[in-house]
Order: sequence, then C-alpha cells, then structure tokens
Amino acid sequence: MKKQSNIVEYQFEASQFEWEIAEGKTIQAWGFNKQVPGPIIKARKGDTLVVRLKNSLSESTMIHWHGIRVPASMDGTGEVQKPVAPGEEFEYRFQVEDAGSFWYHSHHNETVQMERGMYGAIVVEDELDPVVDEEKIFMIDDMKLTANFEFTKPSWALPRLIEKHDGRQGDTLLINGKVDSLLHMHARQMERWRFINASSARYFKLYLGGREFKIIGSDGGLIEQPVVVREALITPGERLDIMVGPFKEGEIIPIDSLSYSRSTFLRPKKETFASVKVLEAKPSVANIPPFLRVIEPLAPQEAAINRKVKFSVGPSLKNGMNFLINNGLHVLDEPVKVGELQVWEIDNVSLMDHPFHLHGFFFQVLEINGKAPAYKAWKDTINLTPRTKVKIAWMPDNRPGKWMYHCHILEHHAAGMMASFEVI
Ligand code: C2O
Ligand code: CU
Repeated sequence: MKKQSNIVEYQFEASQFEWEIAEGKTIQAWGFNKQVPGPIIKARKGDTLVVRLKNSLSESTMIHWHGIRVPASMDGTGEVQKPVAPGEEFEYRFQVEDAGSFWYHSHHNETVQMERGMYGAIVVEDELDPVVDEEKIFMIDDMKLTANFEFTKPSWALPRLIEKHDGRQGDTLLINGKVDSLLHMHARQMERWRFINASSARYFKLYLGGREFKIIGSDGGLIEQPVVVREALITPGERLDIMVGPFKEGEIIPIDSLSYSRSTFLRPKKETFASVKVLEAKPSVANIPPFLRVIEPLAPQEAAINRKVKFSVGPSLKNGMNFLINNGLHVLDEPVKVGELQVWEIDNVSLMDHPFHLHGFFFQVLEINGKAPAYKAWKDTINLTPRTKVKIAWMPDNRPGKWMYHCHILEHHAAGMMASFEVI
C-alpha cells in the first residue's frame, strides 16, 4: 500500500485584538486569527502541514512547533530564521511524523508574546489512538493583569527581581483562553483530555477533586500502558494525555492544580482552572487497550554519559541574577553527529525547579537521581527539581542544522538559561 501524504493548510494572522477572558472582561491580546489560543491544528500522522503566517503585529515574530520533529529550517527560532517583520509573511511547511499532543507558540520576545496569547494546540492523530467517546484539549495559562485587565510589568526593583527569579506567575487562571470555564461531558462515557501547559512559569499539578484518571500519553504521544493516578505534574511546555470517566450524572469535576513548591518565593495554593459538568448518560464506545504501543529503549539505564549540561543560578552585579547553562549565558554547545546516540546528564545544581526542553528531538529519560522513571515515554520537556541529575538518551536523526535546549520558564530562558548547538 502506498502511503498517502495529505496536505493540511492553515492561514495564520498574528495581530493584536480584544479578547474576552470572561463575560465583560476584555484584554488586549496578541494571538493568531483573533483568538486565544490560536486555531487548533488537526492533522493525521504523515500529513504535510502548511501554515502561512502573516504578521500584522507592530513587532517581529516567529512560530516554534513545540514537539514536532521539523527540519531545522522550520524550527522557528532566531538560530534558523529571520524573524517575520511587521507586514511580512512566512510559510512553514513540514511533515508531521508523530501522533500526539503538540503545540505551537511564538519564539520571539516570548515573555511578552506568549504571555499575551500567542500559542495554540496541535493534535496529530493516527490509527493507534484508542477509541474514545470524546476528546477535549485543555491549554493551561495564567496571566498577570491589573484590576482593569491590563498586562503589567513590575516597576519596582524587588518585584522585578522576584519575577525574574521565579518566572511570571499570574493571578488570572485560564483554560483555553477563558476564566472559570464550565465544560460538559456525559455520564457513562470516557473522554481523552489533552493537557498542554502554555504558561510562563506555572507548575500545574493536575487533580480532579480526588478522582482517579489514567495517563495514556506524554510529550511524544502514547505511553506503553495506561498509568492510574490521582494527580500528575505538568510543567511549562509539557503535555499529558489522560482518560477520564465514567462519571455519574450531576457530578461536577474540577480541573484543579494542587499546590506545588518549586522552591521559589511563590507557593501557590490549590486552585481551580475550570470545571466539567456531567450531563445525562449516553452509551459509550470507548475502548482503552491495556497495552497502547511499544517504546523501544534507546539505551540501557547504565549507558555511558557523553555530555554534561549544568543548570545553575548565580548572583550577578550586572543582571541581579544569572540563569546559567554550563556557567554561561545563551551559550553555544558542542555539535553532535547524525546517528550518534546522545546520553546527556542534565544536572540542576540550583535550588529551584527548571523544566528542560530540547528542540526538534524526543528523548527518553533513563534515570532521575539514579532511579528509572515511573514509566517509559517519549519526552521533549522534563522537570529538574533542585539538586537533581536527570540522564536522558536521544538520537540525532538526519536533520542537520541548528537546534537548542533551554529552560521553559520563559523568564529564565530570556535571562540566559539556553544553549544552541549544531547537528552535523
Ligand atoms: Cu516551547 Cu524553545 O520552546
Ligand atoms: Cu528555569
């Protein structure tokens, strides 16, 4: 049988517009096609995606396809592309080779552009996907707004330093661009919920009011077997696919984030981002097999490390605080060769959490502080708790060019916690 490649096309316009986050509460958002999040991109594994971006903002922008194995030239970073200037256009074109929950976001002046809403979800389906009754996407974000729903930057030195240190954590909690959403599902049915954390710095610890749910997917698509839990951490940049239900008619399922201390000045309490009301029963066709797919290990847990990456935070006379990789700011790391297995140790010597994100390639976590992770998954973002070493393995397939890795807390990335390197 010949594999058919379908072309899926989208026209994107980046602009400023009024966006209603709740009834009567409007912000001056920046986004794609006048909505926050931008349009949901839907494709099937193997499709060619074409997104024509027109920039109608008053500043340059670029789109990064977080988690998609694009060619280097399509990665949407300053390493590989000239930012799209106001009034200009750019065409992104690439094949989507993996099924799963991905996302796109601005990769230019991120602490402003992403904060204002320049992101959206990408769902890539394939025939391995379990049959479910319904699917929902939950894009998590928080915004820091004044009483008049205006974006603010702290003007005083201390709050500015705190925002730099902790990342901007907002007070307006959003799911799919809305505050306090009430969604619906039906009793007796089972749904797949795809969570994408698009916030600058919020650690989202998913909790459904104590109900069990099944993790079925991670950054790079399905995991091997469903894992039953009652809570799960989703850091900025990460995705998590879960199966929920069946629930009883009349139940209200809260989409909560439990308190999580990332060892910063902030210690958010438990908060509710949205709720799902269970309506009358409908028949179910859902079928979640006990085994979802095979994830072949790239390397054994004891594989020899061939690169060390150190994350640290240090005082600085010039910047107040430096967010460093291998003791440098925005550094250039050594090249890697196509086809040569990479086993990296990411060592967080700082006293706070950082979500490490690798562009363009999925990795497997071999160990966290010497222990194998709870389940096998393809990842592109992994949290580093304070004083933690994470060992990852990844394979540079034949996509030479310039790539990067960085902390996905946007303020940390901007403050220097990023490195670029070449695949040759
Ligand atoms: Cu979503 Cu450079 O990252
Ligand atoms: Cu960080």
